[in-house]
Amino acid sequence: MVIREASIRRQNASAGRRMSITCVLIGVCVLAGGLSCPDEPVRLAVPERSGDAGEISIFFTGSELGALKPCGCSGGQLGGLSKRTVVFDRVPAGSRAIVDTGTLVAGTGEQDLIKFRILFEAFRLLGYDLVHLTDEDVQIAQSLGLEAPQDGSFSVIGTPWGPDQADPPRTFVKRLAARGRQITVRFAALDARIASPESAAEAFGVQVGTYCVDILILRNADADSRPIWTAFSDVDCIVWPSDSDEPQVLSEPGQRPLVFTVGRFGRHISRLSVGFSDPDAGPALSLEDISVEETLPENESLARLYRQYQQIVSQSDLLEKYPRVPLPGQLRYVGSGQCRWCHVIEHSEWSPNPHADAFATLVEVGSDRDPECVICHVVGMDRETGYINEERTPHLKDVGCESCHGPGSEHIRSNGGLPTTEPKMTCLDCHTPEHSSGYAGHEDEFREKIKHWWEP
Ligand code: HEC
Ligand code: HEC
Ligand code: HEC
Ligand code: HEC
Repeated sequence: MVIREASIRRQNASAGRRMSITCVLIGVCVLAGGLSCPDEPVRLAVPERSGDAGEISIFFTGSELGALKPCGCSGGQLGGLSKRTVVFDRVPAGSRAIVDTGTLVAGTGEQDLIKFRILFEAFRLLGYDLVHLTDEDVQIAQSLGLEAPQDGSFSVIGTPWGPDQADPPRTFVKRLAARGRQITVRFAALDARIASPESAAEAFGVQVGTYCVDILILRNADADSRPIWTAFSDVDCIVWPSDSDEPQVLSEPGQRPLVFTVGRFGRHISRLSVGFSDPDAGPALSLEDISVEETLPENESLARLYRQYQQIVSQSDLLEKYPRVPLPGQLRYVGSGQCRWCHVIEHSEWSPNPHADAFATLVEVGSDRDPECVICHVVGMDRETGYINEERTPHLKDVGCESCHGPGSEHIRSNGGLPTTEPKMTCLDCHTPEHSSGYAGHEDEFREKIKHWWEP
């Protein structure tokens, strides 16, 4: 999808007080659990493409919601921090800016907080210029003590935060060059609930030079914010992190400002290209949606960061701490081996099945201590007497008989007299569209592959 916004007109920027530029610089080499600070950003050698076209590019991401990397359960998944470098490097560093619009994680649990730190580190390794933090992001950053400017690798704007909290709104300026032309890109962050054209004008101040682009990042905005943003006629572009998986353009073609949202889970990168073919007409903006495809090469520093994330998750004992609901009565999980005594045939049909190796699959990719993965690759992780870890509950590894038939202790005690019982999982509980893209529409084939029963 390429949306051409042919020469979006810039009127005279209304005069306003020029704000001094305040950027809070964040030091991030304070990661938990023995995570060392990885090396400097590593860039893949990619032929330089832009710059000579006289255009600069601004890359936008956001709404990661903790998606550091796709799970890899089925093919064709988009996303992954380690695959962004190759996209950014399509434009030489002097002609680009890289911006994240915020909403880094989906909650405030222990694993979310680990992910938050990892994302901060990833932004540094990926060479981000600017990270916009939403109100929730700021609360988390504060609770983690992530604040003091240290190595200045990227700047942060958003909710007032830090020593000079009383000084909103926050702005950030970057000067870029394309074909010898100096272009100033200015960013400001505002809360959509209280934003006004005046507050935007105040944030940006007067226009600097002929080649200047003003970009407003909103928080707490949604499609209902339309009356607000249509009034911002002095701003070139407005963007915010959204609730939709894919990036969306909300303004009409040719309308200024260009209004768009970034997609979720890091599956897409939005690239805003800015040219000045007719300087009197102001900047010409075009927006491109780049899917972060599975086939893109990985950046090794980011891949290493993900392995450190897996280590921290493992060392944090999240599996052991996972909340577990009691089973009714005397029920207990017993493990597939116990079923074999009376169901030899069913057991021998199940053993060569991928279900019986589902845990080894996680060991291979290093996620065997990550509850977000383990839950679908073992028996009963969210119940008492269910899977805890490899040492304590080795008999409950893999997708076992009791994943689908329910806990078997009473069934066995009664020599098969009492049926196995709830909680039973259905195929769709695990074979979701996200984790098993080939399942929907092929239910019968999947069922046939695991058949260990006789249909009447
Ligand atoms: C909602 C349940 C669910 C969760 C959560 C889940 N998986 Fe899976 N996983 C599946 C299913 C179902 C399959 C089989 C998919 C298929 O073949 O259609 C699978 C398959 C896999 C495979 C094998 C792919 C192949 O090519 O054979 C890997 C690797 C994997 N998962 C890793 C992970 C990791 C890593 C995580 C955590 C980040 C995870 N899974 C979380 C359900 C899940
Ligand atoms: C992935 C889910 C799954 C797993 C794992 C699984 N089963 Fe089944 N099982 C089924 C389904 C589906 C049926 C078909 C009957 C039904 O729909 O209840 C079935 C049928 C059966 C039946 C026959 C029931 C009948 O009414 O004819 C037995 C016995 C049985 N399974 C035992 C086992 C044993 C023992 C294991 C482990 C070695 C096992 N199953 C593993 C899903 C599973
Ligand atoms: C002590 C022997 C014994 C053991 C051990 C045993 N079963 Fe059974 N199971 C039976 C008998 C007997 C039946 C009834 C067979 C019939 O109705 O044809 C049965 C029937 C079933 C059925 C079909 C009817 C129903 O209850 O839904 C399922 C499913 C089943 N067993 C699953 C399991 C699972 C899972 C385990 C392991 C947790 C297990 N069984 C362990 C003896 C056993
Ligand atoms: C508890 C979660 C869970 C449930 C419930 C579940 N599966 Fe799976 N299934 C998985 C996982 C995980 C894998 C991947 C195993 C691996 O490759 O490591 C898988 C793999 C498979 C595969 C192999 C896919 C391939 O590409 O070879 C088939 C077939 C399958 N499941 C069928 C079913 C059916 C049919 C049901 C319902 C009766 C079912 N599954 C229920 C988790 C589950």
